[in-house]
Amino acid sequence: MTQTRPLAVIVLAAGQGTRMKSPLPKVLHPVGGRPILGAILEAASALAPERTIVVVGPRQGEVAAFAAAKGAIPALQDPPHGTGHAAQCALPALEGFKGDVLILYGDTPLLTAATLERLVAAKGAAALALLGFTPDDPGPYGRLILDADGGLSKIVEAKDASPEERAVRLCNAGGFVLDAELLRELLGELTADNAQGEYYLTDIVTGARRRGLRAVAYDAPADDVMGVNSQAERAAAEAVFQARARAAHMAAGVMLADPATVYFSADTAIGPGTAIGENVVIGPGVSIAAGVTIKPFCHLEGVSIASGATVGPFARLRPGSVIGEDVHIGNFVETKAATLEKGAKASHLTYLGDVSVGAGANIGAGTITCNYDGFFKYRTEIGAGAFVGSNTALVAPVSIGARANIGAGSTITKDVAADALALARGAQTEKPGWAARFRALMGARKAATAKKD
Ligand code: UD1
Ligand code: CA
Repeated sequence: MTQTRPLAVIVLAAGQGTRMKSPLPKVLHPVGGRPILGAILEAASALAPERTIVVVGPRQGEVAAFAAAKGAIPALQDPPHGTGHAAQCALPALEGFKGDVLILYGDTPLLTAATLERLVAAKGAAALALLGFTPDDPGPYGRLILDADGGLSKIVEAKDASPEERAVRLCNAGGFVLDAELLRELLGELTADNAQGEYYLTDIVTGARRRGLRAVAYDAPADDVMGVNSQAERAAAEAVFQARARAAHMAAGVMLADPATVYFSADTAIGPGTAIGENVVIGPGVSIAAGVTIKPFCHLEGVSIASGATVGPFARLRPGSVIGEDVHIGNFVETKAATLEKGAKASHLTYLGDVSVGAGANIGAGTITCNYDGFFKYRTEIGAGAFVGSNTALVAPVSIGARANIGAGSTITKDVAADALALARGAQTEKPGWAARFRALMGARKAATAKKD
């Protein structure tokens, strides 16, 4: 769908979100590993708006910073007096703009670009298009009252609705498209004459109708527009997000052993033919190539995994991990800021932090990179083809040369040259016959004690 008129977007995100009962602003709560506001800004950006304004409340510096980082202009609403007042607070930032304005609420994490495009298209020759939906339970949503000709007559908030109006199931999902100049005029006419004593944005519909202008509602899929007002609603939105992500990844050729137990983030990228076992959590910043095997019970975050690699079961790959082609990461292995080059192996019980591991190197069970002294972090370099014996502590900063061997149980504090063997452990001593003499002595002693009793 091509946008014919210039478009500006206003996202209302200044509400306190008191029903979340959380110190985190509502719009920064995550769905699919990304703040709700981020999801909305991303969906809206597909419409190529000329400018995007995010209305934030007092003490919401974090929200303003997030919006600015995404290229939006933060506008302050202090103190918040309702959605209509919020839109008024965006007007200074809209100065000089000519075209259509799309106003969205900041608490609808499942909005898709396609839904927004349909809303803009629905406006057609009308003066205003509104994003509506038909939830199973209309509960607290604003009710859409239609004219005889199917146009939108007004929006009545649940708290202000008569029993008859409350029976209406078509509701306001929170999305308006109208000309910028008309918006300025209509916002200037709002009053707070309602049950909540707030300036309702929804009253702009009444204002448009008073001018004899036509308003229309686009009835969107309920899953696309559900609002998040409580922790339970956030979790419900997360469930919908995950169901969509599972379906999308499977449609793209990813094999999920038990889809309901695999969790994705909005930015997860996975190539076709990759297999993911049961109970895998994929946090933000993960890209997995084609032909990778992720075995059950892995936790991945901020990592890229190249094709042919095998990970898990029970592996934890943390941010900054780069897993090369055909690398093998086995059970109970943790990586952080770790680069493993082609064919390297860490098969069991290992911590690899701030390290680069060369191609084909083998990291024995129980190897630990000691990367932190309580104050600073240090790097470890392990050369290609090196063999690090089991239960080795590599005290960083330290480097192991290519093809070097490290004897099991070593604590390595100095660099090891290529092709060398390094041993750093107590030398073994042996006392022939000692164990037999010990057993005889202690056995006799025990027998003597037993007789006395
Ligand atoms: C609103 C609508 C309702 C609709 C529902 C859809 C109004 C009057 N009501 O109700 O018709 O069915 O959303 O989810 O518009 N906000 C501000 N400043 C404020 C108040 C709110 O920026 O002063 C922002 C909030 O951060 C939020 C959005 O506007 O992102 C919606 O506010 P919220 O309080 O959640 O409105 P609802 O009661 O859900
Ligand atoms: Ca809401």
